[in-house]
Amino acid sequence: MEKPIIPKLIRHASLRQLQVFEAIARHLSFTRAADELHLAQPTVSAQIKNLTDVIGLPLFEQVGKKIYLTDAGRKLHRACRDVFGALGNFEMEAADLKGLKQGNLRLAVVTTAKYFVPRLLGAFLEGYPQIDVALKVTNRERLLERMVENLDDLYVIGQPPTDAHFYFEPFMRNPLVMIAPTRHPLANAQHIELRQLAAEPFIMREPGSGTRLAVERQFERSGLKPQIRMELGSNEAIKQVVAAGLGIAVVSAHTLLADGASGDITVLNVDGFPVYWDWQIGRLSEKQPSVVAQAFLEFITSESAELIKAERSAGADQLHAASQ
Ligand code: PGA
Repeated sequence: MEKPIIPKLIRHASLRQLQVFEAIARHLSFTRAADELHLAQPTVSAQIKNLTDVIGLPLFEQVGKKIYLTDAGRKLHRACRDVFGALGNFEMEAADLKGLKQGNLRLAVVTTAKYFVPRLLGAFLEGYPQIDVALKVTNRERLLERMVENLDDLYVIGQPPTDAHFYFEPFMRNPLVMIAPTRHPLANAQHIELRQLAAEPFIMREPGSGTRLAVERQFERSGLKPQIRMELGSNEAIKQVVAAGLGIAVVSAHTLLADGASGDITVLNVDGFPVYWDWQIGRLSEKQPSVVAQAFLEFITSESAELIKAERSAGADQLHAASQ
């Protein structure tokens, strides 16, 4: 049988050294890596010195007080992630063979999905208490960057990229509604036309947000442009600003479910609204989902209809109805 080629790194460096390197590369800090791994800083420095000697190229460079990855460092970081990811998958498969679902799930979701993903996760983890979850919440643009860097197992987003590198499936609707302060003159009006609101001060999500993209498209479709008064990176801040009477906004109905549209905010009955987008869950197409990621995907597709129903009875229907 052909003898495998064992890389020099495997013969001369230890997995521990690679683990230390990976932590420093992730934090860009020797101190934080040492803290995370419960090691003394001189130990960390000694491990990196040995690794650098084996590779024969510097892995970090220091500019002032900051450290940066060199080209070789960046490439080794990617290789470490691939190797650790493959070993992590093997561990999950081994646990699966033993009849256990355990391991890690790295999930990254867009800002607005934080209103329902934790509940879905909670329901999933009831069945699999041995799974550890790392949940990253960020806006659409940063999420796309994370996908390209292959930092997570699965992603939840409203409008996924359509190229062949990604595989996404819709699992739940995302109704976008127009909100205004309760004292707005059109608060009780029916069939408001979008152009009646075109001159109103508009509170908009930040560039890079999926909600913003959807709003811009909706206005464009009517040949209109929102009069942006303020840009905010948080749905909560937008609701506060609208409640304070500073303008109107479009938000996902999911952001209103926790506290409803009662109180200082109302959902306007605008023709063409709610605008329905789908929440989608997916991954890189060439990346086989781990046992745990696959279990979560199956859970989402089988359970989401039930969970949505439960969520609707908790208030989403009233919100939809209010704007229809
Ligand atoms: P956002 O994304 O939270 O970045 O606005 C929502 C979406 O992707 O539809």
